[in-house]
Amino acid sequence: MSQEMQQPQPIYLKDYQVPAYLIEHTDLRFELAEEETLVRATLQVRRNPACTRTKAALELHGHESVELCRLSIDGEILSERDFSRDDELLCIPAVPSRFTLECVTRIHPQSNTALEGLYKSDGMFCTQCEAEGFRRITFYPDRPDVMSVFRTTVVAERARYPVLLSNGNPVESGDEDDGRHFVTWEDPFPKPAYLFALVAGDLAVLEDSYTTASGRSVKLQIFADSKDLDKLDHAMLSLKRAMQWDEQVYGREYDLDIYMIVAVDFFNMGAMENKGLNIFNTSCVLASPRTTTDAAFQRVEGVVAHEYFHNWSGNRVTCRDWFQLSLKEGFTVFRDSEFSADMNSRTVKRIEDVALLRTAQFAEDAGPMAHPVRPESFIEISNFYTLTVYEKGCEVVRMLHTLLGAELFRKGTDLYFERHDGQAVTTDDFVQAMADVSGRDLTQFKRWYSQAGTPRVEVSDSWDESTGQYRLTFRQSCPATPGQDKKLPFHMPIAYGLISASGDELDAGVLELTDSEQSFTFDGLAERPVPSLLRSFSAPVKLSYPYTDAQLMHLLRHDSDGFNRWDAGQRMTVGLMQSLMVDYRASRELAVPESLIDTWRGLLLDESLDPAMVAHLLRLPSEAYLAELADEIDVEAIHEVREFMVTTLARALQDEWSEAYRRCSDDQAYTADAAACARRSLKNLSLGYLLATGEEVWLALAEEQFNTADNMTDQQAALALVVHSGFRHAGERLLAEFQAQWQHEALVMNQWFSIQASDPWPGALERVQQLQEHPLFDARNPNKLRSVVAAFCAQNAVGFHSADGSGYAYLADWIIQLNKQNPQIASRLLTPLTRWRRYPEAAQGLMRGQLQRVLESGDLSRDVYEVVSKSLA
Ligand code: ARG
Ligand code: ZN
Repeated sequence: MSQEMQQPQPIYLKDYQVPAYLIEHTDLRFELAEEETLVRATLQVRRNPACTRTKAALELHGHESVELCRLSIDGEILSERDFSRDDELLCIPAVPSRFTLECVTRIHPQSNTALEGLYKSDGMFCTQCEAEGFRRITFYPDRPDVMSVFRTTVVAERARYPVLLSNGNPVESGDEDDGRHFVTWEDPFPKPAYLFALVAGDLAVLEDSYTTASGRSVKLQIFADSKDLDKLDHAMLSLKRAMQWDEQVYGREYDLDIYMIVAVDFFNMGAMENKGLNIFNTSCVLASPRTTTDAAFQRVEGVVAHEYFHNWSGNRVTCRDWFQLSLKEGFTVFRDSEFSADMNSRTVKRIEDVALLRTAQFAEDAGPMAHPVRPESFIEISNFYTLTVYEKGCEVVRMLHTLLGAELFRKGTDLYFERHDGQAVTTDDFVQAMADVSGRDLTQFKRWYSQAGTPRVEVSDSWDESTGQYRLTFRQSCPATPGQDKKLPFHMPIAYGLISASGDELDAGVLELTDSEQSFTFDGLAERPVPSLLRSFSAPVKLSYPYTDAQLMHLLRHDSDGFNRWDAGQRMTVGLMQSLMVDYRASRELAVPESLIDTWRGLLLDESLDPAMVAHLLRLPSEAYLAELADEIDVEAIHEVREFMVTTLARALQDEWSEAYRRCSDDQAYTADAAACARRSLKNLSLGYLLATGEEVWLALAEEQFNTADNMTDQQAALALVVHSGFRHAGERLLAEFQAQWQHEALVMNQWFSIQASDPWPGALERVQQLQEHPLFDARNPNKLRSVVAAFCAQNAVGFHSADGSGYAYLADWIIQLNKQNPQIASRLLTPLTRWRRYPEAAQGLMRGQLQRVLESGDLSRDVYEVVSKSLA
């Protein structure tokens, strides 16, 4: 087989070996210039005493885009014969046990469209090194278990790049020749290369300070383009709250004297926790009431906290290898999610997290890329920044919290941080700390890390009137996933409550399932209870119990667990919609039972309920969730049934929607607190139902809201609702007005793009193709691709799954174009095509055909190759 024909090969967790060499100190000098950047790296290297391979060569990772200018050991320049190099690795076979390695490389940030390593975002230089971007800067042991102290000097033209940043504290600065200047930064904490960062640009800054629990003052700086300086207050407030929360809840203080965040417009993901110098996608840091929705405000708060929390769960204690990614991500998502729950409504946060898990993560588990929280192998690690590693990983940590209780869990994290501070460790080490503080055997629990797939739990019950004994029986199983046919039972906490006919709680607690079948009995009950199962979604499973509508109604009214009240409502509507889909396919007339309408009326009129809760209860399950639940996804039936439900409930409850809208509208100026967000969410839900009646008066109301709103939540909701409604002309008019008003705000225009791309009205593909011609669309900017391409392919099922296959071909065209330009984004956008097995045969063939076309387009990046080949396997 020739060199070009060789396909990328997987690497395996079981092959892990400790590094043969360690880097004690890394000194970097960057000479930044428009066309090329020169990097001089000086490394203090020594043999790793823990490595038994005595003759091991020094292995440095590299990348084809990096030009090697000079390589020397202890001042002796190496010639071509002294080392070997291919696209990925540079090997020096004979090295002393302790030496200085100097390496000079030339790189080209200007033409770096992959946005990994050092690249340009608009006018500024920035970096993204996680997971393996540092090797695009210099030759280095680019693996997380090699931790080094860094000293970094950044040199650039002063006029264009007045701000020069890197990790740690600034220790020196001054002038160089030709109008250039420099700043030297020192980071005293040893860190792996993936946490390295550098920024150079003409940036405005918002400054503040925070005094830690022990009384140290930390300088806080958030950098952004000067036009965005007015959108940094919310991130700053969120940062200070996160710092305080981590002290109170985890006893963790910040460790450097300065904490910096930089907002960049070109970014593959959400944000990055580089030590002392976080780099953020603008979409996860900028916020102001006029330009930012409530949902985006929440996201900024969550992501700022997430990256801050990484300083302990990720940076001080990091991952031994990338198979352990969930060690830092699962734990840190758990931390940020609890933080957001404490700052806002706990129940609402739980509902939102679970909705995401059940639609997107469960779908991942059911697809060709399904993998355990701790994967066994990968071809490209970037493909494993997934809902499974993040969100399911968070649920696994949450289960430990549930099993141990808050107090022991905190003892466990204290022990974990104390034991492993400054180390690169594994998920086993994390669980061991929990086992050690609790004295519990968590061996079986660890299957959550090694077995993929969504477990099923089937529950049945029995009642003995004569003895007052109630019995719950659980059967657990887990479907096969790629490479794992047979699964062993999981250790899962099932939080429950037993509710009497009058609504009292007869019993509550946590049951621990460990066997494939297990029964629990409850004695001395005066009546047969209604079971409330899996409260707060205590385990990431699909639980079924043959609830009657009357029982669900009872839970909806009386359950003390807010999450299960919501879930009872969901179970009711999902059940109804599933039966309506059967009717739809059989061309039977559709009808919504009067009892459901009455329940909804009751909820809408009950002013004692939290409006956010009401809004969540009355929001129909998404098309994506209904699709995930289906054996075979019928896109049209799902869409039509949902539309029918919306219209029916809209007309039947028109007065109630109108009343709810009125009740939730207030003339007070905008505030972003939880109560105000809740009112807006019910108000805009009501507006959506009112528009769905098709009555012109409600269009007028929506237009008035659009025109008079003093905040983006209300304005954008009105826009999206009108655009997605049958009022096509009005939709176009509002889109034009919105564009005229906001064309200078990139993030606002992203929403303008995505509202149109996700509009299911016929002709979606043509409209999307037109959007791509818009002067503000830029195919090199990931946010723009997400707003147009991903919004169409992932959020517009009806458009994307058009029967002629045009949606599939459209996506494949994009993948082929982006494969080289930005492999990470290409591979992420591909997701909807990988799910072909879930669709009817005709669609399957068309989808597979496009995957095949991508595969045969040749010269695939590891990212795209892995996803396409696994999808077709
Ligand atoms: N560690 C970052 C976070 O979750 C994610 C960055 C990953 N970036 C990437 N290109 N793979 O906070
Ligand atoms: Zn993270």
